[in-house]
Amino acid sequence: MDDKDQRPRVLVTRRIFAPVLERLSASLLLDVHDSDQALSPEALRERLAGCDGVFVATTERIDAALLDACPRLRAVCSMAVGYNNIDLAACTARGVLVSNAPDVLTETTADFGFALLLATARRVTESEHFLRAGQWRYWSVDLFAGQDVHGATLGILGMGRIGQAVARRGVLGFGMKLVYHNRSRLPAETEAALGARWVDKDTLLAEADHLVIVVPYTPETHHLVGAAELARMKPGATLVNIARGGVVDDAALAQALREGPLAAAGLDVFEGEPSVHPGLLAASNVVLTPHIASASLRTRLAMAQLAADNLLAFFSGGTPPTALNP
Ligand code: DGY
Repeated sequence: MDDKDQRPRVLVTRRIFAPVLERLSASLLLDVHDSDQALSPEALRERLAGCDGVFVATTERIDAALLDACPRLRAVCSMAVGYNNIDLAACTARGVLVSNAPDVLTETTADFGFALLLATARRVTESEHFLRAGQWRYWSVDLFAGQDVHGATLGILGMGRIGQAVARRGVLGFGMKLVYHNRSRLPAETEAALGARWVDKDTLLAEADHLVIVVPYTPETHHLVGAAELARMKPGATLVNIARGGVVDDAALAQALREGPLAAAGLDVFEGEPSVHPGLLAASNVVLTPHIASASLRTRLAMAQLAADNLLAFFSGGTPPTALNP
């Protein structure tokens, strides 16, 4: 980077879309890590040390130690809605702006949650593997017979924007009954429009035919669904996780898929991803995808543009549109 250039310096921690880089580079001096491979924590610290801002996604850990090693840093703008990788309190205490990317990915992520629900309940990938392996010899009455989705009870754990979008798909599209658990209840008119019933967590687990997990990952939601919770689920129920891996205890989940009560699971996120628990990899009754729920081209571009909007607004003295600690 040119030392005489007075523009704010911003590290872009990964390969992103060219139009986003073009917008950013018009007023910011960029250091772009032009790779899909995340920077190591050491490399991140080194590259960030002389920067005023950073563009991140889900994999860069921004904690107090890193902030202290990078005293110039004033803005951390993420293209993800989940910000469990950023210590918001530590940023706020040091006067560092944090922004995330809500709303733009809601419908796309809910589409994918529903795709996982359908694929899981109706055993889509399991039966495809069977066919591709040349094992299909004859039609039989119970070949890959799964669980119905229409008319079943949809349980949603975490009724934020994405949870509500999944709920709309289930209720309006598939005639599902809806129970949900969330710290706060939906407004009465939203509950009425969806026929939604707020229940405590144990009731949710006991009543859901298909459970979709959409809570943010925080210290309080770590292993929110573990062995005890899985044991409360209905025999033959399915579980979909599009939240964060740590919300579910993956070892306990692998056991519940092996020994019951779960019939199947659909997982887009994993504890310690990109590593996946061997018990999940070995199970045939689980659909596994590599954290792509928000990955339509249009949505990923919109997410990156929103992170750029925040950086550009912050460094031009404007109001970052989706700041978490304005
Ligand atoms: C998010 O935005 O938090 C997603 O998990 C990334 O796709």
